Amino acid sequence: MVTLYNVISSDGFIARLDGSEDFIPDEVWNDLLDICKNYDTVVVGRKTYETILAYPQAMIKKFEDLKIQKIVVTNDNNFTAKPGYIITHSPKEAFSIGQNILLTSGPTLNSSALSEGLIDKVILNTLPDKINVGIKVFNNDPKLIPLSSIDKPNNRKLCFYSISKI
Ligand SMILES: NC(=O)c1ccc[n+]([C@@H]2O[C@H](COP(=O)([O-])OP(=O)(O)OC[C@H]3O[C@@H](n4cnc5c(N)ncnc54)[C@H](OP(=O)(O)O)[C@@H]3O)[C@@H](O)[C@H]2O)c1
Repeated sequence: MVTLYNVISSDGFIARLDGSEDFIPDEVWNDLLDICKNYDTVVVGRKTYETILAYPQAMIKKFEDLKIQKIVVTNDNNFTAKPGYIITHSPKEAFSIGQNILLTSGPTLNSSALSEGLIDKVILNTLPDKINVGIKVFNNDPKLIPLSSIDKPNNRKLCFYSISKI
């Protein structure tokens, strides 16, 4: 079972066009840490891995201290990661390492996994504000079927979806 998790602006963007996440409050990192506790494996693309490593050290430590397998996907056979991260070379290989997997990445890896039919569920942590332009969850918008939602502090909403196969 693979669940995709992303934080989005109210108009559906996960980052600004330059990759900045300045519209995402730091407190939202705790939502990811809590959600990770329900999974045995978290999978990120190489660029998201590098984005995480640029966060403040205290945020990185909380993530790296989680008792969960942490997997980076890259095409680069020479890529090395910090101790504690497993390197894989395709979404399929990454997802074969765990049972209950949380994918949290950008549109490149998200779309690659989606096109192979590997994503079962989507959780979008939706912020109240718009940013008007930016990077989307997927390169092509799949049809998301709303399942349920949970209200979070400061007008955030955790929205759960399945993906239409047609
Ligand atoms: N708001 C959120 O929830 C959230 C979450 C995560 C990321 N983000 C944002 O998303 C942006 C990054 O997104 P992105 O799409 O550029 O990058 P990404 O998906 O994080 O990583 C892309 C990289 O992953 C590897 N990759 C992807 N698909 C692959 C495949 N099928 N096989 C092998 N390797 C594969 C490649 O690495 P190599 O180039 O090394 O081969 C590729 O360049 C950043 O701005 C980040 O801030 C936002």
